[in-house]
Amino acid sequence: MKKYQEDLEKARKEVFEELAKVDKIKNLEELKIKYLGRKGIITSFLKNLKEVPTESRPTLGKLANQVKDQVEAIFKKRIKELKIREPSEEKRIELLDYTLPGRRGWQGKLHPITQISEKIIGIFYGMGFEVAKGPDVETDYYNFGALNFPKDHPARDMQDTFYIHDDLLLRTHTSPVQIRVMEKRRPPLKIIAPGRCYRHEAINARSYCTFHQVEGFYVDTDVTFADLKGVLSAFVWELFGKEIAVRFRGSFFPFTEPSAEMDIACVNCKGKGCGLCKYRGWLEILGAGMIDPEVFKNVGYDPEVYTGYAFGMGVERITMLKYGIDDIRLFYENDLRFLRQF
Ligand code: DAH
Repeated sequence: MKKYQEDLEKARKEVFEELAKVDKIKNLEELKIKYLGRKGIITSFLKNLKEVPTESRPTLGKLANQVKDQVEAIFKKRIKELKIREPSEEKRIELLDYTLPGRRGWQGKLHPITQISEKIIGIFYGMGFEVAKGPDVETDYYNFGALNFPKDHPARDMQDTFYIHDDLLLRTHTSPVQIRVMEKRRPPLKIIAPGRCYRHEAINARSYCTFHQVEGFYVDTDVTFADLKGVLSAFVWELFGKEIAVRFRGSFFPFTEPSAEMDIACVNCKGKGCGLCKYRGWLEILGAGMIDPEVFKNVGYDPEVYTGYAFGMGVERITMLKYGIDDIRLFYENDLRFLRQF
């Protein structure tokens, strides 16, 4: 009696172990025959009952039937489960819900700084400018000297500039592209030069060690400040919308004379005064001016013959104003939650 019971228990354990490993209906059916078929292991216990002593038969019979019922039930359950996971072809079609919205594939996008750079370039391209590029690693001459920065100018300071050695540095602005292009070519020149710049500054919400600028300049025989104002106003209206007011304020840059900064009416309060514009109603968006005669001399142009204007703007700053972003560091953290919004 003990042996019968032990064998039955062992067989039951075995079924469960084997069942756990099976995940195909076909294999499950084979397993069912192995245990519950006419010559199956569990079935044979019922058949073998006649061999056990008569007095134990009712107890063992009950036990064997219990095990058989339990095993049958678990097979039924597993088959049902697998049928859901492994539906027939017709069932699969039936299960399809055509009303579900499609799954959208993930599409990569350009970084917001690239998008706005391209937008800026596109606007100037439409006004007849061609694109030029220069190296990120510059010499002191192109970044400062040729642009009329005096030797002791604070911008040359280690505080602001990443030096590779005495004469070689990471460009602090895109203005050196003016020199590189003018050295190689003769006017008329109408150039737009986008690129990355670097400054050794403390990192905070407003400034970062690297950023992008778009430089522009136009040199010909009679270019005036009025041309500059016209082109920059057209640009701002194209980028920020027709309604926006603009103004030019006198300023200073070593490579332009006269120099100006261009402001736009605050994109947030439209000029009324708010936190973004520090209650001034205006936001500075770029530097500009008439190319200094000294710069022309440095590239071998006769300042009596040629005049020109130049301007330079920060792409991060413009992007921040356009989208109401309050921290420049967001552009460099590559957090997809931020980037996916553009
Ligand atoms: N290079 C200047 C800067 O980095 C920006 C700038 C100002 C560029 C005036 C110009 C210009 O071409 O005319 O701050």
